[in-house]
Amino acid sequence: MQYEQFAIDKKIVFETLIKEYPPFVILYAKESTCMIALHGAHVLSFIPNGGKDLLWLSSKAQYQNDKAIRGGIPLCLPWFGSDTSPSHGFARISEWEVVASGLDEEGSPYICLQLQSDDWEYKFCAQLLVKVSDVLKLELTMQNLDEKAFKFTEALHSYFNISDVKNVSLIGLQGRNYIDQLDGNIEKTQHEAIEVDSEIDRIYQDTDDACTIEDKGYNRKISITKENSKSTVVWNPWIDKSASMVDFDEGGYKNMLCVESANIGDEAIELQSGAQHTMKVTIET
Ligand code: BG6
Repeated sequence: MQYEQFAIDKKIVFETLIKEYPPFVILYAKESTCMIALHGAHVLSFIPNGGKDLLWLSSKAQYQNDKAIRGGIPLCLPWFGSDTSPSHGFARISEWEVVASGLDEEGSPYICLQLQSDDWEYKFCAQLLVKVSDVLKLELTMQNLDEKAFKFTEALHSYFNISDVKNVSLIGLQGRNYIDQLDGNIEKTQHEAIEVDSEIDRIYQDTDDACTIEDKGYNRKISITKENSKSTVVWNPWIDKSASMVDFDEGGYKNMLCVESANIGDEAIELQSGAQHTMKVTIET
C-alpha cells in the first residue's frame, strides 16, 4: 500500500483496524502517543506518557467512509458549518493520503497528510502536518490550485477531554465579541472566563488569543495556542442535543468541551490562484 513506505520502526506505525476503511497511523514520541485516522486526517488521541488523553473521543463514534468521527479533532474544510452539505465540509469524510513522514532533530515523529481535490467548485490542495513530542503541533495548509480566487472557512474542531464540565473554566476569551449561535446569531461580549452549565455554541471573533482549559478535577491545564486563526468556536451540546446524536456517548457532554481554532464568517480566508494559507495550533499541558 501507498502509505507503508512512510512507516518508521516503532515510531510511525500504520494499522488497518476496520475492513474497507482507511488505516490509522500511530506516532510514538518519547513523551507521548498520538493516533490519527487517514479518514479525514482526523487526530483521535494525544496521550502524554503516564497521563490522560487530552482529547475526547466518543465510544459510539462511527467509523464509516461517509461519516465524520465524533470526537478527537475533526477538520472542517473547505467550509465550516451546516449551511452547505455535508456539514463542516467534505474534508473530514475524505480519505487523505500520506505525502511525508520523518523524525525531527530530537527524534520526534511527524507526518504530513494531503487532500488534493477537484470535488468542490474550486481546485485545492490541503495538507495537515502533525508533529508529536511533549506537545501536539498541527499545521493546516490550504493551497489554491484553481485559476480563480476563492474564499474558504476552516476549523480544527478539537474535542478536549475533561473530568467534568462543572470543574472547568475556559480562560482567554474575556473582552472578545462572539456570535451566539443559540440566540439568533446575535453579537455579544464575553466579560468573564467561560463556565459551562448549559448548551453553548459560540463563534468568538477577531481573536488569535491562546486559551487555557483549567480542569480542577484532573488537576491540569490544557493550553491551546494558535497562529493565523482569527476565530475560536466554543461548543458543548449539553443534555438534549447530545442525546439526539446517535454517535454521542450517553452523558458524554460532561466530559468534553470543544475549543476550535478557526477562520469563519467575516474571517473567511480569500486565496488568490496559486496562493496558500497555513493555520497553526499547538496543544499542550
Ligand atoms: C460546532 C458547531 O462547531 O460543531 C455546532 O458550532 C455543531 O453548531 C457542532 O452542532 C457539531 O457539528 P457536527 O456536524 O459535527 O455534528
